[in-house]
Amino acid sequence: MPTPQRDILVTSALPYANGQIHLGHLLEYIQTDIWVRFQKSRGHQCSFVCASDAHGTAIMLKAQNEGITPEALIEQVKAEHERDFAAFGVEFDHFHSTHSEENRVLSELIYTRCRDNGAIKRTVIQQLFDTEKGLFLADRYVKGECPKCGAADQYGDNCESCSATYEAYELINPISTLSGSAPVLKDSEHLFFDLPQFQEFLQDWTTSGRLQPQVANKLAEWLDSGLMPWDISRDAPYFGFEIPDAPGKFFYVWLDAPIGYLASFKAHCDATGLDFDHYWKPDSTAEVYHFIGKDIVNFHCLFWPSMLSCADFRTPSAVNVHGFVTVNGAKMSKSRGTFIQASTYLNHLNPEYLRYYYASKLNSRVEDTDLNLEDFVQKVNSDLVGKVVNIASRSAGFINKRFDGQLGNVDANPELSQRFADAADSIADLYERREFSAALREIMGLADAANAWIADVQPWVIAKQEGQDAKLQATCATALNLFRTLMVYLQPVVPTLAGESAEFLRVPELSWNDSQQRLENHQIGAFKPLLQRVDSKNVDAMIDEGKTPEAAPAEVEPTPATPECTIEDFAKIDMRVARIDDCEYVQGAKKLLKLTLDDGSGTPRTVFSGIRSVYQPEDLKGRLCIALVNLKPRQMKFGLSEGMVLAAGEGDSIHLLDINSDAQPGARVS
Ligand code: MSP
Ligand code: ZN
Repeated sequence: MPTPQRDILVTSALPYANGQIHLGHLLEYIQTDIWVRFQKSRGHQCSFVCASDAHGTAIMLKAQNEGITPEALIEQVKAEHERDFAAFGVEFDHFHSTHSEENRVLSELIYTRCRDNGAIKRTVIQQLFDTEKGLFLADRYVKGECPKCGAADQYGDNCESCSATYEAYELINPISTLSGSAPVLKDSEHLFFDLPQFQEFLQDWTTSGRLQPQVANKLAEWLDSGLMPWDISRDAPYFGFEIPDAPGKFFYVWLDAPIGYLASFKAHCDATGLDFDHYWKPDSTAEVYHFIGKDIVNFHCLFWPSMLSCADFRTPSAVNVHGFVTVNGAKMSKSRGTFIQASTYLNHLNPEYLRYYYASKLNSRVEDTDLNLEDFVQKVNSDLVGKVVNIASRSAGFINKRFDGQLGNVDANPELSQRFADAADSIADLYERREFSAALREIMGLADAANAWIADVQPWVIAKQEGQDAKLQATCATALNLFRTLMVYLQPVVPTLAGESAEFLRVPELSWNDSQQRLENHQIGAFKPLLQRVDSKNVDAMIDEGKTPEAAPAEVEPTPATPECTIEDFAKIDMRVARIDDCEYVQGAKKLLKLTLDDGSGTPRTVFSGIRSVYQPEDLKGRLCIALVNLKPRQMKFGLSEGMVLAAGEGDSIHLLDINSDAQPGARVS
């Protein structure tokens, strides 16, 4: 039964425009893309939009550090993100930016409507202010001693030692991690979205079947413990949109980020003629789905629906939450090489392997997904290559060589063909409910049945028998039809493989209903290998590359030739193991850190080093390094520098030379 056409809008969370896409992010974008491709193959009107999340302090500071404008930074990162998504077959209908005119207009509109409906309050709050940098400090930019237990070096929101939570200004001896200076407490008026007004609305909304049970339960806990007004403003300097009736104040990045979904869709509507209001008016019959990770549930299931309804927009039909990616059972880790960037993966492996593997693990629950690399190799090889592609490669040769590519019109196994066609509804139902793992199990069950039948009838034996041509043609044509149906079902997961299969079968792009018709009296094209087995050597190479991201060859400049150095020259150099006892920012110096070294001599040695772009004082305190101690002292603007510490590289990719941690300060390096 054809289902009536639905109008569906789908989003994935907007990736921050200050970092690279990694395999953790990709779980979400691949999950969403599979669901969207499924809806499209069913003939629904489905739009998939996303955007760069471009605002906020982190992006502003990163641009400053790189000496470029935030606009230049977000453009550059957006291009990288779009390139990575395209490579993984994540096909947005539109990819926008939250730093866009559409988003400014919509953010102002939603804010003003909320204000006019009495949901915005103004309150003066006190916050730590970095007088050197001239900005108010978010909690993560403040460190100090815990007000409860006194543990040193704790961030401005909670203590890692005793788990106490507090306000940043309660820290003892707070320090700005941005400048190293002691911040002062300063008043500032902030604007708040009055969330408590929406308590009842949210109690209904979160229990109306739009959320997974696990998510609804978590929200019920928050609702029970009482809601707090939400601070939606930030003081200048801030990279974002200035609030219309509050000069010098900017919308907090999380206010305009979800509005970015609307902005991206608006730009898409303007380009294609789709009707924006049809999707977003309060009683809309269109469907809207957000796919997000479990870390951003509060933004999407509390603030967002409240703001939308207060501003007279419809709320999402559902918010689909997924868990986090782990690799080999553990959190992704840079030192283990499992914090894998999309671009690193692409240097070694076919993106469809990952799409298939993630799909084979995903269900509708908020569970973490483990990328087990051995299982990954095994599953892709056994399922995709061994079970699916194998059906085509065993049959296509005979059809091409013996029958000039003609399939004929005889079904050698009507019962099996019928079973394949009949599976369409239950597989569709599983995709619809995001039970991808179960969908793939059912599809692989069909592939097993096809392979068992082929092994039983043995076309390669029929091929050698006289007068059995018709039987051989019917058998292989039937096998190819079964293969085609499998590709219809797998197309949302492995679109490139499905596309190449359609090409060799000489049929237009596959759609769900193709599962109900056979290809008869049809001529296919030449078979070419569709998918290679995964080689675990490539997985190992990827992990190795993940461990050394700095080894990006394109960025290494050729070393200029240096004059020859004699052994006598070298003997003049006195290098020692030294411990960095103290490290501070240097006021007024962008590149320098001031190090106080213990070089074993008993007298502390001061060295100014140009490594500030890559290290923060906390990174270095207590660390061992190698120091050149007989360098002629040099009077600098900031003080006397009595040596050098050895580092490799320059600019942003500089690395202090490491030394084995049981070496003693003062040990001679030769
Ligand atoms: N910019 C916000 C989202 C704003 S939406 C209006 C953000 N960006 S993010 O780049 O940090 O994350 C984007 C998405 O990727 C989020 O849904 C997040 O949960 C997801 N993931 C990031 N790391 C992940 C894993 N390691 N595993 C699975 N998903 C992860 O949050
Ligand atoms: Zn503490």
